[in-house]
Amino acid sequence: MNALLLAGGLGTRLRPLTEHLPKPMALVANRPWLEHLIVHLKQQGIADFVIAVKHYPEIIQNHFGTGEKWGVRIRYTFEKALLGTAGAIKNAEPFLDDRFLVVNADIVHEAEMIPLLEFHNQHGGAVTIGLTTVDDPSHYGVVELDSQGEILRFVEKPRPGEAPSNLINAGIYVMDKRVLRHIPKQREVSIERETFPLLIERSEGVFGKTISGYWMDMGTKERYRQIHWDLLNRAYRLPHLGHQNENGIWVGQNCDIDSGVLFIPPVLIGDNVKIGERSVIGPFSVIGNDCVIGKQVRCTETIMWDRCYAHSGVVLNNCIFGYDLEIGAKHILHEAVMSRAEVMQA
Ligand code: GDD
Ligand code: MG
Repeated sequence: MNALLLAGGLGTRLRPLTEHLPKPMALVANRPWLEHLIVHLKQQGIADFVIAVKHYPEIIQNHFGTGEKWGVRIRYTFEKALLGTAGAIKNAEPFLDDRFLVVNADIVHEAEMIPLLEFHNQHGGAVTIGLTTVDDPSHYGVVELDSQGEILRFVEKPRPGEAPSNLINAGIYVMDKRVLRHIPKQREVSIERETFPLLIERSEGVFGKTISGYWMDMGTKERYRQIHWDLLNRAYRLPHLGHQNENGIWVGQNCDIDSGVLFIPPVLIGDNVKIGERSVIGPFSVIGNDCVIGKQVRCTETIMWDRCYAHSGVVLNNCIFGYDLEIGAKHILHEAVMSRAEVMQA
């Protein structure tokens, strides 16, 4: 069974971070999320991937190549114009096994695929949708289930108060290739708005199975931040956080931290980071690899990607900085989200 990762969206709600970057390449704990995702799926025995790219495809291709470094095979599909979530699956048809996984690549999760696959095999539907619950389902695809786990209704982004339940589409599907017969070629097709409702109408068998563990769509700045706070709180236990120096303080390799620096946990510091005297970092901050932070910098609830340079005396609160930013001396930045106006490699 191979896996198709949908990674072509424009990531508009995460701009400016995604202005020149595919959303799934946004860093999570100092690594592109897509890399964590591939490692997570590989651990469950999936070693053959197709990535459906569109927005800055070369960034994904340059990063992963053929997948050799991760011990997997990766192939790519391309779209001249956005084909939508179902159109992208149809476009990948020649690469897909008779039964395959589809994963929205912007979902940060630790779901296990085997129970989903077993459920799919038992129920014999055309598709099994991984489900999770959220407080406000209006931003997601919402399902109405019968007692056997069959989906009776799929409503994408219902108006507040109109959702049939709190059970939502987690963006992870086990699919049989016969689904592709129901997706038209060469035009934009939404799996959520068009294909799922059609499959339900035609009684092709659309089932839902709740997944377990952490789940968060990284598509907005609020949720992107929340993922990091959950990581630092260990509500989400990503295995690759690195070495923990003290309770709630993770510092990477080869760092040059002045003895007068105060870390207020939880904080995560990448590799090769330099921090000057009397700087106070945390609580809730993530500093990327190769960052330089001057003296007397105050940094709370802030996420900084690789190779940033914060001059002495800056005050940063609740900010997100993309790659390679220089943060000017004595600036006070509150809730700033910044990225460079040029393409930077992940
Ligand atoms: N290749 C390709 N082409 N990928 C696409 C396209 C496209 O035209 N459009 C979207 N994608 C990718 C995005 O990059 C993302 O990884 C994934 O498909 C989902 O798109 P989003 O734009 O993030 O959708 P959403 O978050 O609003 O809603 C979807 O995910 C929810 C779970 O987080 C839907 O599937 C909802 O039903 C679901 O609940
Ligand atoms: Mg999304």
